[in-house]
Amino acid sequence: MGTKTFAIIKPDAVKNGYTGKIYDRILQAGFNILSAKLLKMTNEQAEGFYNVHRERPFFNDLVEFMTSGPCMVLALEKSNAVAAWRETIGATNPDEAKENTIRKDFASNVQENAVHGSDSDENAEKEIAFFFTDAELLTN
Ligand code: RTP
Ligand code: MG
Repeated sequence: MGTKTFAIIKPDAVKNGYTGKIYDRILQAGFNILSAKLLKMTNEQAEGFYNVHRERPFFNDLVEFMTSGPCMVLALEKSNAVAAWRETIGATNPDEAKENTIRKDFASNVQENAVHGSDSDENAEKEIAFFFTDAELLTN
């Protein structure tokens, strides 16, 4: 299992003032933060990042949401990072997320769901490279 994953504190969570609280959850869950930056995604970035969802009915809304304000992108490190982070964030729909998960506590709805997490080691590598150069990642 890989040791890295990619996370986003999405525009809803930043706008609602949860950036610091979610950053704390990341550290409490035992992740090392290899890099982080605040940015406002362009249409091209959001469309490219969510390209796998291009044919889904929610794609245009998702791009509009992800470009609606600043978000924080992060490269995270932990053993079995992809699964560990998805466990920490909870189900896509906050109504289905377990107690004490980030989405249960901070998400508004199935779209404005506070955070992103990579779904595989392969996608984690791709997503980290989409937003960070190698030189921007701490090497410990
Ligand atoms: P993410 O990629 O953001 O970590 O979320 P996920 O794996 O849990 O969910 P995914 O199926 O990859 O969906 C990506 C994002 O699209 C939005 N979404 N909206 N309106 C809807 O029914 C709907 N379904 C998904 C969410 O922002 C979701 O996180
Ligand atoms: Mg996903």
